Amino acid sequence: MEGKGQTALVTGASSGMGQETAKKLAEKGFQVIAAARRMDRLNELADQVQGIIPKQVDLSNPEDVEKFSSYISSLSEPVSVLINNAGYSIRGALEDISLGDVRRLFEVNVFALVRVTQACLPGMRRLRKGTIVNLSSIVGKFTFPMTGGIYAASKHAVEAISDAMRMELRPFGIRVVAIRPGVIVTEFNEVGNQMSGDVMARTDPDYKPVYEAAGAGIGKMFGGVSIPGPDLIADLIVDAVLSDAPKTVYSAGPFSDEFLGQRAKLDDDEFDAFLTEKFGLAGLKV
Ligand SMILES: NC(=O)c1ccc[n+]([C@@H]2O[C@H](COP(=O)([O-])OP(=O)(O)OC[C@H]3O[C@@H](n4cnc5c(N)ncnc54)[C@H](OP(=O)(O)O)[C@@H]3O)[C@@H](O)[C@H]2O)c1
Repeated sequence: MEGKGQTALVTGASSGMGQETAKKLAEKGFQVIAAARRMDRLNELADQVQGIIPKQVDLSNPEDVEKFSSYISSLSEPVSVLINNAGYSIRGALEDISLGDVRRLFEVNVFALVRVTQACLPGMRRLRKGTIVNLSSIVGKFTFPMTGGIYAASKHAVEAISDAMRMELRPFGIRVVAIRPGVIVTEFNEVGNQMSGDVMARTDPDYKPVYEAAGAGIGKMFGGVSIPGPDLIADLIVDAVLSDAPKTVYSAGPFSDEFLGQRAKLDDDEFDAFLTEKFGLAGLKV
């Protein structure tokens, strides 16, 4: 078994892509520390698959992250595979999102990722090997309007951090991979709705036509598109971990080819015009 004798850590392992990845890595023989807030889910996972170690952590709470990082640093078998997967989104125009909500999102999607990675690195350097997989998104390379500039900003941060680490850590034999999923069916959408609250109820009436136009544009985009489940991405992650030479970035899922393709091909003005059109905002005056 490829992972025998190796310890992996998967954050956000209680649901979606993290849960599938934890399961698949354990099936490959890794000992997997599965971290999240919902212990019932993690315990259930540990009952289903051998080799899962459930560990509770609230990554939005810096003190909890510190305690978790001390636990990671104290392991006798260092983590050699780190999947920085935990994350969530909030939606709305910038004016409709409180600074507290922005801070909380960055605590989970960015600051906790940095701290947990820092806790794993001394062990990986001692081993002179390791793989770090960071869950970015297609919106790590551009942003949609109205539905998540702040979320996209956190994923742009994940991309920059991944790029720097890849170069810094290569001399130690540590590989760094970014994953850019398109839209995937998990609890992500539901959690995003919960965390955003009723944006339409609190927005200024000025914004209503802008939300409505963007909503209609998104509706059109999704028409007839079938959305895959988390397996698609978990398989990519496991392939990257087991590969002798993983790629810098893996992307898959609906909209990933179209949007990332256009982002690579168009200049900034052309891409802005492409997205404005897609979101039904071209020519809108309020
Ligand atoms: N689904 C998509 O369309 C999509 C697309 C691109 C990128 N992504 C990214 O992929 C990653 C996984 O998302 P998913 O789609 O699998 O979503 P998901 O089903 O909602 O899973 C998110 C995981 O993150 C954990 N998490 C959230 N807040 C946490 C906190 N404060 N402390 C500890 N753990 C926390 C959740 O666990 P608990 O609630 O139990 O704590 C859960 O296990 C995220 O980084 C997301 O941004 C998703």
